[in-house]
Amino acid sequence: MTTETAPMLDTATQRQPELFALEDAPLPPSGGNKPFRTQLLKWVGNKQKQADAIISHFPRQFGTYFEPFLGSGGVLGVLAPRNAVASDTFAPLVEIWQTLHDDKDKLKQQYAERYAQISPLGKKAAYERVLASYNTRPNGADLLFLCRACYGGVVRFRKSDGFMSTPVGAHDPISPESFGKRVDIWHARTQGARFLHLDFAAAMQQAKRGDLVYCDPPYADSQTILYGAQAFSLHRLLDSIAECKARGVYVALSIDGTKYSGRKVCDISIPDGLFEREVFVSVGRSMLKRFQMDGLSLEDHEVHDRLLLTF
Ligand SMILES: C[S@@+](CC[C@H](N)C(=O)[O-])C[C@H]1O[C@@H](n2cnc3c(N)ncnc32)[C@H](O)[C@@H]1O
Repeated sequence: MTTETAPMLDTATQRQPELFALEDAPLPPSGGNKPFRTQLLKWVGNKQKQADAIISHFPRQFGTYFEPFLGSGGVLGVLAPRNAVASDTFAPLVEIWQTLHDDKDKLKQQYAERYAQISPLGKKAAYERVLASYNTRPNGADLLFLCRACYGGVVRFRKSDGFMSTPVGAHDPISPESFGKRVDIWHARTQGARFLHLDFAAAMQQAKRGDLVYCDPPYADSQTILYGAQAFSLHRLLDSIAECKARGVYVALSIDGTKYSGRKVCDISIPDGLFEREVFVSVGRSMLKRFQMDGLSLEDHEVHDRLLLTF
């Protein structure tokens, strides 16, 4: 296995000219060479900033793009693939994506309705009302507002009963107008995707020779209280990757870089021969660290994500 550092790269709009003609390219507004940074959802572990670097290591040509740990779709949004299967086990999150795809005006309305409660109730009470509604019946419409308005975008669940427990953020959530523009942009960039509520193994089984799977699993150490605390097994994932590779599917796997920044020895054992290459992609600061270490200098915590490639 060889080790490389990530080179600088081109933008998604340049790479996907067939999806956006120059005149109707939804982004970037400031010209054709800026990276696509506008986020739809706030999500811990979002990969949008690193997406160009990650994508630069993808094969030049591939069939369907699979993103089985979708989260806020940082890589999907930058890649804007013509054909994709985008999936996650977190049902309310998948509901958001499906609404974006099928009925974007409904998504805008869902956000606007919850945002409208801020004016009469105040931000904290409005947030708590939406949080209570979500905890009574977890659903995409409430989660959408909560992830934009909660503290640090850290959608966190109480271990004992799975309730979302994150407090309201100090910031003001973006206006419905601004959110609506993001919805339009993301709707256009993700039209080629089918959004499915699936465990990663079931999604990866659908990939065929020449397809590409990008995996960004939950960080084993630091993300156990996030995303509803689903059971996640890296060993099960490595088995799925091996099966994909045997079928001629390309697989790229992001692995938590904080193990390196903390100067801890990486304890993940990876079967010999499964990956052909590894590269390091700069992550910047860890969001969880920023959350815990508010006010402290974090220059020492510049971390790199490890990207393992089967091709
Ligand atoms: C690190 S986040 C992905 C972040 C994403 N790359 C982004 O840009 O936002 C990991 C995601 O994996 C999902 N997940 C956890 N266990 C899963 C499983 N068994 N199958 C599929 N998705 C799972 C979580 O719900 C979460 O959204």
